[in-house]
Amino acid sequence: MLQTLVVICLALASRVTATPTFSLFPGTIFEQFPGFEGATILTSQGGHAKCVRGNLNVQTSSSNVKLNYDGPSSQLALTELVLENLQVNSPLSASVVGAKTQVSGSYKINSQICWPSSGSMNASSIQFLTHGVGFDKSYWDFYSSDYSYIDFMAEQGYTTFSYDRLGVGASAHPDPIQVVQAQMEVEVAHTLIQGLRSGSYCTTKFQKVIGVGHSLGSILTTGVASQYPADLDAAVLTGFSIDAAGFPVFFAGLNLVIAKENNPLRFGLLQNGYIVSDTKVSNQFGFFRYPNFSPAVLDASERVKQTLSIGEFFTNAMVLAPAPEFTGPIDVVDGENDLPFCQSNCLNNGNRAAEVKGALFPAASAGSDSYILKGAGHGLNLHYGAKDAYKHIAGFLAKNGY
Ligand SMILES: *[C@@H]1O[C@H](CO)[C@@H](O)[C@H](O)[C@H]1NC(C)=O
Repeated sequence: MLQTLVVICLALASRVTATPTFSLFPGTIFEQFPGFEGATILTSQGGHAKCVRGNLNVQTSSSNVKLNYDGPSSQLALTELVLENLQVNSPLSASVVGAKTQVSGSYKINSQICWPSSGSMNASSIQFLTHGVGFDKSYWDFYSSDYSYIDFMAEQGYTTFSYDRLGVGASAHPDPIQVVQAQMEVEVAHTLIQGLRSGSYCTTKFQKVIGVGHSLGSILTTGVASQYPADLDAAVLTGFSIDAAGFPVFFAGLNLVIAKENNPLRFGLLQNGYIVSDTKVSNQFGFFRYPNFSPAVLDASERVKQTLSIGEFFTNAMVLAPAPEFTGPIDVVDGENDLPFCQSNCLNNGNRAAEVKGALFPAASAGSDSYILKGAGHGLNLHYGAKDAYKHIAGFLAKNGY
């Protein structure tokens, strides 16, 4: 049955891509993607993946926290907020973070499923990709085939799901203070994963889900593994460790500004609680290490840079908890010179990537692994060595039977 669907799916796909299709017509591949509104077909950077992209309606409810903060009313107030947060023994968080409060809503999440263009969608597993701060889902299919995680994995036979997190890119932008908080994003991820397993977005019911994160996306993936241990069969955590010593310098270096003032064309409709790194220099400081990247890739990452919400700013760390019930394998992959998670040296007195298993995943299986990508900064996918990391991750997955 499933095989038949996949075959039909592919036959229709080749027919449809000959002429661009922008709406859901009966008898097209889009019938296999019932959850995707306004679906379009595209290919990955290197052409190894074919993708369907559209909006999923995600109904969710989250135990958020009430934040006693209405701003920032101006750039002066935002800079003051960041400064106060970085103050030694800062009382800011304690005064702003209030009681738990339930927040519910239905949010459009712009998503895509990509599968090998040379083969079929394999229902045995899907990789669930969650991007970090400063990017959207294009982080996983960036610039050219040299950097595209999605393209590389499709070449190895893997199907991927990637999405713009709530409050980012083409997804919904609700209240950036009370709604777009880390716990809400864990609930969004949980709902999406359930939908991929049950076949409500795509008629293929994926049997195994491999959570793959970058930075905040890795914190959220760990949050899912901690709160919903049955959601994920394996976890790949990139740009991640339990060492937060580099965070103050990282946040200072981002030079956070009000997004709509920074780029009215891209962010003009957003509330002041959506903030963004200021310039290409701020972007390089937070995510890159020269000369191990192409200046054209830094330019591209500045052009598509994305926002952070004040809600995330105050709640990111709250979902980072051990996942003692998670028994699958984990793979932790860091750029050697990751600023936020390694204070720019992941091999200083030990190995920050290797330390994650003992600290957060005590029951992770023996197939767990870690990898340090030489010379890369926090945005490891955007460095020359990106494919070495992808090869390592594909090896980790194969070794564990995925
Ligand atoms: C699907 O993936 C599984 C696990 O990696 C593999 O054993 C199987 O051969 C794949 N099936 C196809 C049709 O590629």
